[in-house]
Amino acid sequence: MTLEGKTVLIGITGGIAAYKICELIRKFQKSGAATRVVCTPNAMNFVTKLTLQNLSRNQVYVDEFDVKEWKPEHISLADESDIMVIAPATANTISKIANGIADNLLTSIACAFSKQMIFAPAMNCNMWNNSAVQDNITKLKSKGYEFLEPETGFLACGYSGKGRLCSIDKIYDSVVENLKYSKLLEGKKVVVTSGGTIEDIDPVRYISNYSSGKMGLAIARSAKKMGAETVLITTKDVEAPFKVVKVKSALQMQKALDDEFETSDIIIMAAAVADYRVKNYSNQKLKKTSEDELVLELIKNPDILQTLCSRNKGGNKIIAGFCAESENLLENAKEKISKKGCDFLIANDISRHDIGFSSEYNEVTILDKNGGMKMFEKNSKDVIAREILEYIIKK
Ligand code: PMT
Repeated sequence: MTLEGKTVLIGITGGIAAYKICELIRKFQKSGAATRVVCTPNAMNFVTKLTLQNLSRNQVYVDEFDVKEWKPEHISLADESDIMVIAPATANTISKIANGIADNLLTSIACAFSKQMIFAPAMNCNMWNNSAVQDNITKLKSKGYEFLEPETGFLACGYSGKGRLCSIDKIYDSVVENLKYSKLLEGKKVVVTSGGTIEDIDPVRYISNYSSGKMGLAIARSAKKMGAETVLITTKDVEAPFKVVKVKSALQMQKALDDEFETSDIIIMAAAVADYRVKNYSNQKLKKTSEDELVLELIKNPDILQTLCSRNKGGNKIIAGFCAESENLLENAKEKISKKGCDFLIANDISRHDIGFSSEYNEVTILDKNGGMKMFEKNSKDVIAREILEYIIKK
């Protein structure tokens, strides 16, 4: 992909991996992007201004008070750039940004930056595992900042563990992927479900499934990046820069969807909803008996997707479901889309271990109610999520 017309702001902080960022700048230059580089004063101990200046073909910014223009650099650099990537990101800079501290040019720019920001941390493994650092990372993630996890291996400080900067290709690919998002969903409300519902048997036991909630979370994140007011109804604990409604059972999920239905424009049900729940919940823990068999009586849960589709009579909402099949994927999906009456059905093969349940990846075929069909080849759930939303919007 050419990045012609895009400006990438690269923030370099004081870690030994700073020298690797020279290669990243070259990659952006080759792709046609304009690169702007801002360094913390500590970064200058690891890489020279002259090198970065030559590679980026631009002035390199370090000193907050070396002012040449009427507009402060932390405002103009933030305004001009389409995305900011901080690599390597030290524990110190991550923690400052998480707490709104702006005590050098880089942290001041980060504080004023309202577009997508990506962190590629690199540090000693004990610093990475420090609970205060991890709390700050969780805080930033919950606000929509992206983190590219460091890798495990031999560290420059002599230790072996997690803390090495991830590959330059990974940082580059992540920036390119983020630049693909356009604000196609501005002014729209998107409601997404995720995770497997939990149907209690007694206070200690339940019926559920292997859904990790990753697919639904990826769709909600994509919708948010596309500018939508986003609501995620999920059975999982999620920290996110949008509204999250935590539910447990199918009935609770239905209630939460009912609450959001009227004001929503798009509903996407990636949750794995139990078709049945226990008929007689036991308030006390069920005791082992002398019998060799225990029979649990189950009753049908409402089909939430089907019910929502039947409520959408005017057709002013787009409703999509997922279809998890272990055999005859497309055949079963075609049958399901007409039975449930949804606009789109996204079919995935859950018999494969490299995609679907719990995996970081998926491969899907989207069916639409008019008989259209499109396959999206195996990719990360983030990419698949963006492709699904773009397809639905285009259609
Ligand atoms: O969570 P991950 O680990 O990332 O895995 C993702 C996934 C495999 C769970 C996801 O991609 C997926 O396939 N979700 C749908 C799972 C499912 O319940 O499929 P289904 O074919 O049984 O149901 C079809 C549709 O009806 C689904 O949208 C489901 O949410 C909905 N449904 C099902 C039963 C029910 N009682 N009410 C419903 O609304």
